[in-house]
Amino acid sequence: MSLSTPSRSRPVKSEPWPASLTEPEALGFGRHVAPFVVMAEHEEHSGWSTPVVLPRAAVQLDVASGALQYGLSVFEGLKAYRDANDELHLFRPREHILRLQRSAERLSLPAISEALLMKMLCRAVDVHRDWVPPYRRGSLYLRPTLYACEESLGLRRAAKHALSIVATPCSSPDTSTPKRLWAERTLARAAVGGLGAAKTAANYAASLYGAQQARLRGCDDALWLDAAEHCYLGEAGTMNVFVALPDRVLTPPLDGTILAGITRVSIMQLLAEFDVRCEQTAISLDDLQRWQQSGGLREIFGVGTAAGVAPVSEIAWENARVLPAGGDLAARLSQRLADLQDGAAEDRYGWRTAVRNARRDQGLPV
Ligand SMILES: Cc1ncc(COP(=O)(O)O)c(C=O)c1O
Repeated sequence: MSLSTPSRSRPVKSEPWPASLTEPEALGFGRHVAPFVVMAEHEEHSGWSTPVVLPRAAVQLDVASGALQYGLSVFEGLKAYRDANDELHLFRPREHILRLQRSAERLSLPAISEALLMKMLCRAVDVHRDWVPPYRRGSLYLRPTLYACEESLGLRRAAKHALSIVATPCSSPDTSTPKRLWAERTLARAAVGGLGAAKTAANYAASLYGAQQARLRGCDDALWLDAAEHCYLGEAGTMNVFVALPDRVLTPPLDGTILAGITRVSIMQLLAEFDVRCEQTAISLDDLQRWQQSGGLREIFGVGTAAGVAPVSEIAWENARVLPAGGDLAARLSQRLADLQDGAAEDRYGWRTAVRNARRDQGLPV
């Protein structure tokens, strides 16, 4: 497929919200992929093309592409929210773009500018305006993916890449049911020097089997540990983790094996706002047991764009488990984060980026 199709000068009308999707609370996550893709292509000699909006079915990927054969792809996951005035905003898009740029560099994929990516993200929201759930009832999740699409076998930097953004409307995260995590002591997701800090397919391929094993043991997900000693906490499948003690909150450091979560850094900011000390430090399973025995293990929670702030009721491993005593910190953080995301609270940190309505700006019927 060629992207030489000129970009439409008149912004397309947003695809209407399908009648079958009337209950945002029943959307779940990722089940309903929106109809359009915003896409640009990159060739070594000419750089990035002008982005275009295409029907999703028109986007093809050859089986002999580096993305499929060697996992040469990186992605992001971020959300757009509708505020009380029906205006749309992206949450912390700049941080997601910077992370995509870092992931791309680690995988030898071409650089893409912040300005181009921001423009494409806003366009992906604008063409799906009606797909953004109502205020406080969910969000539109965006999945930009940068991948090698040259039709040729052989492991080398490809001559052709693409950046495609798909969107999916999703419910607000369900934070009412606490998660049970299985600390995986045999398999490893990522090692120091590897790909763990990049948001790339390989990490998710590495973690699915462990997540399934966790489910067979009655847990919701695997909790990944360090690859050398299998005793220090890393992260869960799609969440960074925090441990709340009576006098401070701890989270594993960014040692290159875990994703530098945008929610993680947002939560650290909110902990400062709440006047709660937060330390990035190694946390072992022995530490968790010790704190439990002394009565100091208050709360454990996972955080991520899709998961929100998810309380963890148990971490289990062979012949052992810890059950945090409980507290209200995760719930308070969850509420504050949601208020900042959907515009219920003043945007005091500049985390929200408005998505302009291109048709309205040009005086066209919306
Ligand atoms: C492996 C992993 N860790 C952590 C996170 C949380 O990152 P963020 O808060 O940027 O969504 C995610 C979410 O995508 C993830 O996939």
